[in-house]
Amino acid sequence: MVNTEHFISKKLQERQASGTYRTLKQDNTLVDFCSNDYLGFARSAELGNLIDKEIARLQPVKNGSTGSRLLSGNSNYTEETESYIAGMHGCEAGLIFNSGYDANLGLFSSLPQRGDTVILDELAHASIIDGARLSFANRYTFKHNDLHSLEEKLKLAKGNCYIGIESVYSMDGDSPPLAAIAALAGLYNAALIVDEAHAVGLYGFGLVDNTLKKKVFARVVTFGKALGSHGAIVIGSYSLREYLINFARSFIYTTAAPLHQIVSVKMAYRRLQHSASAIEKLKNNIRLFKQTVDKKNLLIASESAIQCVVVNSNDKAIAIAQNLQKKGLDVRPILSPTVPKGSERIRICLHSFNTSEEITFLADTLNTFADAK
Ligand SMILES: Cc1ncc(COP(=O)(O)O)c(C=O)c1O
Repeated sequence: MVNTEHFISKKLQERQASGTYRTLKQDNTLVDFCSNDYLGFARSAELGNLIDKEIARLQPVKNGSTGSRLLSGNSNYTEETESYIAGMHGCEAGLIFNSGYDANLGLFSSLPQRGDTVILDELAHASIIDGARLSFANRYTFKHNDLHSLEEKLKLAKGNCYIGIESVYSMDGDSPPLAAIAALAGLYNAALIVDEAHAVGLYGFGLVDNTLKKKVFARVVTFGKALGSHGAIVIGSYSLREYLINFARSFIYTTAAPLHQIVSVKMAYRRLQHSASAIEKLKNNIRLFKQTVDKKNLLIASESAIQCVVVNSNDKAIAIAQNLQKKGLDVRPILSPTVPKGSERIRICLHSFNTSEEITFLADTLNTFADAK
């Protein structure tokens, strides 16, 4: 007998009992310390105007893309934008996916084959893990940012080997020793894939610089964080692009993004080239927060816009976040199982548009909670 309703209610009750029940949040007017809009692009009227002008120039523009990229959903504009973005990152070619989730899913599921090996940092994003799971390759994780642990796994690798890491980790905000990992990948002839979702913006076009790029097989850049838009691109060689068009199911079997989205992304890239002052402001805000917040031992070491105060329990993280929200600050708790048990945290995202007063108030308020611990 089908007993789906019983199954669903049991699972939801379990979630409720463990204090990890997820709900969607409504719009609010709190000070934003939780979005990925690091440079304020998503709310920029100036960027909005650039997008409108470009759309007007391209008229007539269809409201939807009308099909998958391989059928009716492709456009010259999309392909030009892919080349333009790849060029910005100093790469040969790029392929746009409908989201970062889709990009990682397509890349990590299509490239490694049965008999190959995928080695991921243990804190790699769910989209990377899910992609690797969908492949038939052998999978290993290595200890977060730990070269020794990575090398142990590289020694076990069979077939073609792929390493998946992020240049700024989404839940911790820290960065790996990129040059050393690239060197190790070279030593073991492994293809290094770097997700730059949270690095693009604060670090300009990312942390994979001109020297490193020769040692990195592919990069994933998402457009929904500092670029303030939506979607993602995989950048690498021409042949990688051709391969993904042929084998990445999350690219093939989905309706392409509408032109409006592609225009938004292209204009965001144009703006990023002229965003030195916003980036400087963001860097100052990160510095100010790190200086003002006490209890440095509770902070995860991070130079990025993601700053985390670890409080070690779901209940405590929820209580602190609720208190901050009552004081007008939009700060969200990150609970287990999203992060490992014992590392539940308050995750703060800093932005170029946050004022010094807002940041000082946030840090001072956090200090009082930390003191009460
Ligand atoms: C590191 C990383 N990669 C990929 C993604 C997925 O990107 P998107 O939100 O565009 O699906 C995210 C977003 O949460 C992320 O943090």
